[in-house]
Amino acid sequence: MDAKLTAELKRIEQDFRKKLLESEKYDIDEKTNLTQNLAQAALEKTRTDFFGKKSHLQKVLHKIGNAKPQERAEQGVAINLLKEKMLLEFEKTREKVEKQIREQKLQKEKIDTSMPERTHKIGALHPTPQVIEEAIAIFAEMGFVCAEGPDVEDDFHNFVALNFPPEHPARQMHDTFYLQAGKKESVDEKLLEKWLLRTHTSPVQVRTMLQGKLPIRVIAPGRCYRSDSDQTHTPMFHQIEGLVIDQSSHFGHLKTCLSDFVRAFFENENVPIRFRPSYFPFTEPSAEMDIACRREDGKINILTSKDEEKLEWMEILGCGMVHPNVLRACNLEPEKYQGFAFGMGVERIAMLKYAIADLRTFFDGDSAWLQHYGFSPLDAPALARGLRAQNF
Ligand code: DAH
Repeated sequence: MDAKLTAELKRIEQDFRKKLLESEKYDIDEKTNLTQNLAQAALEKTRTDFFGKKSHLQKVLHKIGNAKPQERAEQGVAINLLKEKMLLEFEKTREKVEKQIREQKLQKEKIDTSMPERTHKIGALHPTPQVIEEAIAIFAEMGFVCAEGPDVEDDFHNFVALNFPPEHPARQMHDTFYLQAGKKESVDEKLLEKWLLRTHTSPVQVRTMLQGKLPIRVIAPGRCYRSDSDQTHTPMFHQIEGLVIDQSSHFGHLKTCLSDFVRAFFENENVPIRFRPSYFPFTEPSAEMDIACRREDGKINILTSKDEEKLEWMEILGCGMVHPNVLRACNLEPEKYQGFAFGMGVERIAMLKYAIADLRTFFDGDSAWLQHYGFSPLDAPALARGLRAQNF
C-alpha cells in the first residue's frame, strides 16, 4: 500500500489516541459539575473531528477516489478497518467517562440518614373564623340566617336608631373612631362628620329591620372597632349579633335560645348559666348572660355544676327585648311587633372555649401561635359531624 497513505493513517490514529486520553483526563469536579461537562464536550469534539463529515479520515477516503480500482479497494479496506478500530476505542473511552460521571453522581447523592427530617407545615384556620363558623352552625339549626352590614357606619345606624340620642352618656362607653370629613362641596358635610367605624354589630339590627321583611331571625357576625387597647381589649375585634322580631317572641324564648346556644357551643350540657339584669339603650329589659367557670394556673375551666368550689361567673354576652324606640326608628309598630336581640364577643368566647389567655395574641399574626391554636381548614364545623374541628 502507498507509504504516504500508511503514514497519514498512522498519524490520524496517533492524534486520535492523544485526544481520547485528553478527554479521559478531566477530573470531575464535585461542586460545580464543570469538568463533567468538559469531559463530555471533549469527547463530543473528538467524535466530530475524527468521524464527522469534515474529518481527516473522510478527506482521505475522498482522495482515494482517484486511485486505480485495485489500489482503491485495498486502501478503502485499510481506511475502514482503522475507522472501525477507532470507533471501538472511542466507545470504550466514552463508557469509561460516563461510568466515572455516574459514580461521581452517586457518591454525591449519598443519603445521610442522620439528617433531621424536613418539616412539612400545613396551614391552619384562625380561631376567630373557626368560632364564627361554629356559631353559624348552631344558629342555622335554630332557623337563623346571616346578615351583614358595613364596617364604616353612620351615626344614625350605630347610635341614633339604637336609642343613643346625641349627648347620651352611654355613647362614652364606646370609644368611637370617627372619620374625618371629606370634601365639603361634594357630600353633605354634616353626614360625613358623623361617619365612624362601627363600635358594635348592632347597627346590622337596624339595617335588617329597615328592610321591612318580617319575621326576622338573623345573626350578624362581623368586625367592630373601639379606640381601646389592653390585655382584654383590642382596637379591632369581632362580635356576633342576633335579632328575632315577630309578633310573639318573648324573654322566655330569649333565655332558651341563648342557653341552648351556650350548651351546644361549649359542648357542655350542664354548664351553669345565669341571666343578670343590665342596661343597654336599645333593649328593655336588658340582661347579661354569665357562665360558671374557675381559674386555675392562668387557665379558665368551664364548670358543670353550681356547687363547685372557687366558682366565678364570667360574662359572655349582652341581650334583651328590643326597645320600642328602636322598633319605631326602624318603622315597625311596637304595638304589633316585638322580639329580642343579643350580642357577644367572638374572641371572648373563643378564649373561654379554647383556653387562650391573651386577647392581643389573636391579632399578632404569629404563625407559631396559629399552628398551636389553629384548626384544620378542611374540617369546617357542622352539627352533624361534631362541632369541634380537630386542633393540630
Ligand atoms: N352592642 C352591645 C355591645 O357592643 C352588645 C349587645 C348587648 C348587643 C345587648 C345586643 C344586645 O343586641 O341586645 O356592647
